[in-house]
Formats: sequence, C-alpha cells, structure tokens
Amino acid sequence: MSMFGAVGFSLTTKSRHLLLRSLQRKGCAARCISTTPFPEFDDLVDIKTHEDLHKFSLEQPDTFWSRLARSRLTWNKDFSTVSKCDFKTGQLEWFVEGTLNASVNCVDRHLKERGDQVALIWERDEPGTHVYLTYKELSEMVGRIGNLLRNSGVKAGDRVAIYLPKTPMAIATMLACARIGAIHSVVFAGFSADALAGRIQDAEAQTVVTANQTVRGGRIIELKQTVDAAVSKCPGVKQVLVYNRTETKVPMGKLDIDMVEAMAHESPDCPVEERNSEDTLFMLYTSGSTGKPKGITHSTAGYLLYTNVTFKHAFDYNPGEIFGCVADIGWITGHSYALYGPLSNGGTTLLFESTPLYPDPGRYWEMVERLKLDHIYLAPTSLRMLLKAGDEYVKKYDRSSLRKLGCVGEPLNSEAWEWYYNVVGEKRCDIIDTWWQTETGGICISPRPSEPGAEIRPGMPMRPMLGIDLALVDTQGAEVTGEDCEGALCIRRPWPGIARTIHGDHQRYFETYFKPMPGMYYTGDGAHRHKGGYYQITGRMDDVLNVSGHRLGTAEIEDVMDDHIDVAESAVVGFPHEIKGEGIYAYVVLKDTRTLGKKEIETQLRAGIKKRIGNLAQPDMILFTPGLPRTRSGKIMRRILRKVASDKPDELGDISTLSEPEVVDYIVKKHEQLR
Ligand code: WTA
Repeated sequence: MSMFGAVGFSLTTKSRHLLLRSLQRKGCAARCISTTPFPEFDDLVDIKTHEDLHKFSLEQPDTFWSRLARSRLTWNKDFSTVSKCDFKTGQLEWFVEGTLNASVNCVDRHLKERGDQVALIWERDEPGTHVYLTYKELSEMVGRIGNLLRNSGVKAGDRVAIYLPKTPMAIATMLACARIGAIHSVVFAGFSADALAGRIQDAEAQTVVTANQTVRGGRIIELKQTVDAAVSKCPGVKQVLVYNRTETKVPMGKLDIDMVEAMAHESPDCPVEERNSEDTLFMLYTSGSTGKPKGITHSTAGYLLYTNVTFKHAFDYNPGEIFGCVADIGWITGHSYALYGPLSNGGTTLLFESTPLYPDPGRYWEMVERLKLDHIYLAPTSLRMLLKAGDEYVKKYDRSSLRKLGCVGEPLNSEAWEWYYNVVGEKRCDIIDTWWQTETGGICISPRPSEPGAEIRPGMPMRPMLGIDLALVDTQGAEVTGEDCEGALCIRRPWPGIARTIHGDHQRYFETYFKPMPGMYYTGDGAHRHKGGYYQITGRMDDVLNVSGHRLGTAEIEDVMDDHIDVAESAVVGFPHEIKGEGIYAYVVLKDTRTLGKKEIETQLRAGIKKRIGNLAQPDMILFTPGLPRTRSGKIMRRILRKVASDKPDELGDISTLSEPEVVDYIVKKHEQLR
C-alpha cells in the first residue's frame, strides 16, 4: 500500500471518485433548507426577522450567545459564565470554565452521522486531479498526525509553525494541533525565509511542518529550501516534519522527519486534550502600522462559535452543500471559512491549491462545473483580473450549481460587483460582500442573505452581523450619529470571536485596538453609513496597505529599504491600482555617500524585499528623490506622497507650510516621467 494510502488518501482514480461522489450525493439528499434558520430562538415570539434577532443579540447578549454556544458546540464541561469582558481594560473572556476541543467539534462529532460524507475536496494545482476526503478519512489523518506530534514531544500550549500549501495535510495538521492542545501558527507559504524565521522566533515554535516542494500555477516552489534557510536562524527548532507533496526527493537533515512515513507508524486514534474555552486555539501573524508583524491570538470556544455561526448565517449554508473558499490557509479567511466554519458545521469544504489564472482564466468556473460548488468565496482582486480576460472564460462552463457568491478582503468596486452578479451568477445568486479582519475572527458585516427578500445593495457589506454593534467616530473621538455620514469604524461591544491578544505583547494589543476610542474596538478602517443604516467600507485609515487583499504594513517595507547601506530614508504609500486594489509606491532618498548607481540600488532593494518579506511586498514603483516633503516639525507628509502616487498632483492643497516645498515639484515631475 502506498504511504498515501496508509494515511487515507491517494490520487483520485475514477472508481474512487465515483464512489465518493455518490457518498456525497447521499449527504446532499439529506439537504434540508431549514425554514427556521435559528431554531435556538424559536420560543421567542417577538423574533420574526433577522433585524429582530440582531436587536435581541444586542439587548441580551449573554442569552443570545449562550444558547448558540450550547446548541452549536459540543462541550466536555458546560461553562459557568457567558462573558466577562471590558473594552476599557482589554479583558475578554467568553464561556468561562467551559471545556471542549476544536478537533472534536470539527471532526469526531460528525463521524456517526456523516463519516462517509466528503469533508474536504482538494482541488490540486494540477487541473482535473481533485481528491475527495471523507470525515472518516480526515479523522484518521488528524489522529495519526496528533500522535506523531505528541510522540515527538509537542505538548499542550506549544506552538507549531505550519508552512504548507493548501492541502488536506495542512488542514489535518491544524486540527491535529487543536486535538493535542498545541497552538498552530500557519505562515503563508509565499513568505520568504527571513519572514518565516521571524515568525518562528517570535512564536518560539520548536516544531515546523512543511512540504518538500509545492506546485502553484504549474511552477515548482522549493518550500523545504526556504524552511532550511529559516530554520538555520532558529536554534530553538527541534524538528521539521516534511510532507512530500511531489515525487522529488529533497535533502533531509538531522532535524527532518518524513511525515507520511512517520504517520504510517502511528495509531489513527489520538486521545483528545480537553481545552478551556479561553485556551489559545491558534495564532496568525498579520501586518500592522509598525514594522513588526503581530501574532494575533484566537481563543478556542469563542472563535469556534463565532466562525460556526457566521459561516452558517452569512452564507446561508445548508447541509450537503459544497463551500468553496479559495483563500489560502495562510490567511485568516482560510482558517475561518475553509476550515473551522465549514467543518464545525459538518460541511464540505474546498481546498483550492492553484491560482485563478492557471491553466487559463477559466479555472474557477471550470472547477465550479466539475465539482458542482454551491458557494464560492473569493477576493475582489481576482474578479478584477478575471473580468479583464473576458466573459467567454466564464460562459463556457456550467455554473448552475452556484447559489451564493461571496467576497472579502477589500472593497468590491461596482464594476466587479456587476460582473460577479450578472456574468458569473447570471443574476441568480446573491452577492455576499463580507467585511472583517484577522482580529475579528469572523465576518462582522455582511448582507445576511438567509432572510427571505432581504435587499442586497451593490458595493457594500451592509448589515452588522448578529451580536455586532457598529459605531462611527470622528477625528475628535465623538460618535457620528444619523445616516449618510462617515467616520472611523468601531465596534461598541465584545463578541466571542474577537482576538484575545498579540502573542507576547498584550500592551501593544491594548494600545492598537482599545486605546484610540476608549470603550470600543477600533478597526483601523473608515466607513460610510448609508440610508437604512447600511455600511460601506471606505478603506484603511492607518499605514496599512491592502494589496490584492493582502495586508502589508508600509513600515515593514520601509524597514527593509532603510537597511540598505546607500538609503538615507524611505516612505511607502498605497495608490489605487486597477487590479490589485492598492499598489505599492516607494519614495527613496539616497545618501550622498552612495557608491552604486540607482539601477543597481533598485535591483538590490527589490532583492532585499523578496528576501526579507516575499514578492507580495514588491513595490509597483520606486522613485528616487533628494528629499521627502515634511512639515516644519519634521513629519513626513504622506498625504502628499499619496496624491502624487495616485496621479492627482492638482489636489495637493496648500504646500506652503512644508519645510522644503521644492521637493514636491521634483517628485511630481519625476512621477510623470516614470509613469
Ligand atoms: C479590508 C481579511 C472592504 C479592511 C478577512 C480590513 C475589506 C482588512 C473587506 C482586514 C470588505 C476586509 N470591504 N474592505 N468586504 N473585508 N477588508 O486582516 O481594510 O487580512 O481592515 O482580514 O481588509 O484584512 P485581513
């Protein structure tokens, strides 16, 4: 038997495919479109609509969340207190004294009823070679990996770094960590060795899980080499588990363990570690407005409940449906809506390993036809890219299985909204624009489509989710009331899915999110409240960029450039980009003492960014300038840099207060030449 066979999956053969497909259909036969989406509240006579329930969730949050927690999650021990939270002090505790395990909630409890139902559909990079995995098979994999980790010395509370492509192995490893109480820290497999090393060190992870290689868009990526380079800087790492995603043998060192081979020696039955509600389930690094990425930390019970409830109700997910979240597992969207939301609901989830353009811009829609996806959840940036390629790539394929079309990560501009609705969804499917953040754990604003006849407006996520109390605040810190107004988007009261801390730096957590608007959670985004109380996101208000739906701190990129021997200083800003949503524009001031030419410096700066962060942080434009526009007090005027980068030199406003206004003339001219 092949080692793949030993752990429960092999490449799809036709018969296996058909068998599993029919098993899945059986699951689908049980599809019930519940007439009452909230059976937990059926006894409350005054609740008829979502609006009523939203009101109730804010008026009686403890009753609301405790009913859901008891009915949607499986507990070892019931909780005693629903919530102990205070935004003023940053205290956040939910379901106090309860105990449970996330892997039991995502896998074990479904085995009796849906053991043979497909849990994961791995859409491999190689087109047409998808693999189905049932809940039973997933359970076996999770058990073996759990035992392997535990027998290799991983204990509850230890951090495990995961640097894997979006494969069943990645999902099973995350769940295996949850099973034994270890904390997973997934690092997007596009980050460089230095970025990975920084995250391993910050998390003090002693175990790294990776693959020999990965394939993306038909290209081989040498993951293990990157991990070797990272681990050479992390003396704390004791072991590296290596999953052979391809046939190619890679050199194995003394820390390395062949994962599939080792799993074959482990039992599929892995004892469960009982976790307290507030024990950390995972951490995930994200960018902030200062240089160092933050290890956002999520709780076990609160996070799991919040993703469970929002998955079901933001998308109106019904049993038996196939949910296709195409985000990578290295981002929060992959955690919440490819893994924890769908699996805690006993759903079938897609693991998309490829890119929307491989082998051609029809990939998503060909996949929809072949796998019969009911839902697709993607980033606006890919829609903008695909709509440029033309409608024929969509129309060629049958999309009649699709019911809801979701998106996340950045504003969905009206052209992309219309295309998604008219062309992709044939005016049949609701567009579910969801707003949320790594820190919020799950969706906080979404149109809530399970309400029959609810209006859905283009270009905005619209309505606060259940339990979410939104506020807009002006620059003076006063609340903006009424409709048709704008302000900094804040959330007035705690919800279970909110992050609990930044790993190792609770002070930074408190200062970033709770200090700007005392008593509220500060999102860092601006928003417009339209008539009817519907919210539209206007974009980040801080120095965080959103490039193709990926968060990047301008300071992270500046730090790399400033370290170059010939660079005196730099400033990075975003500008509107047709495809990526936001592009990266870098202004660089060189030292007088420099010895290299500008071309050479630019090449080295780009190599530095690739090495220290990854190619996703590569600037679209690097402009060398003798200086940066500053106020007389020395503050860099980023507003001016943004206007120039956005081709709006006539909107610079009054620049007479700058210390050297002629710098602006230089930058404007130079920008025009480079454009
Ligand atoms: C942005 C992704 C407009 C926003 C789940 C937020 C959005 C940041 C939307 C979080 C949306 C997310 N419309 N902007 N529907 N969704 N954003 O942590 O700026 O990677 O603060 O989480 O993405 O990015 P993150």
